Amino acid sequence: MERNAYLTLGIATIFSAFGILACIKATSIPDDAIGQASVDLTLQLKNIDDYINLGGVIIIRVAPSNTAKSFLAESNICTNLPCTVNYNRDLKQFICPCDNSLFDQNGNVIGGTATQSLYNYKLKIIGNNLLID
Ligand code: FES
Repeated sequence: MERNAYLTLGIATIFSAFGILACIKATSIPDDAIGQASVDLTLQLKNIDDYINLGGVIIIRVAPSNTAKSFLAESNICTNLPCTVNYNRDLKQFICPCDNSLFDQNGNVIGGTATQSLYNYKLKIIGNNLLID
């Protein structure tokens, strides 16, 4: 094989690898969390800053009323690589243990190697139950 053929093959291999990584990232978002078991607001997330991990979606209460706007819901999958982020209630940040990316409560990148925000979910309330919409 000639030098140009090797170069072409190498470049094609690199682009293929990035394509595969992009697919992994795209499919890592826990879409199956949508419509999953609800949070009973008479028992859980009663106080501001309370949070819960519901099937890979971290839901945080940020206001006192029982409306969907009183809660934030972020995927716990880091957007840098598919590691799982942890929520630190005191710092109000998501921290990735793999490469130390930091995200604010809204999932926005505030530090580290990640360049994309955490995936945000919409929420809805039916009766006393909070659901991922
Ligand atoms: S996997 Fe989260 S910062 Fe790299």
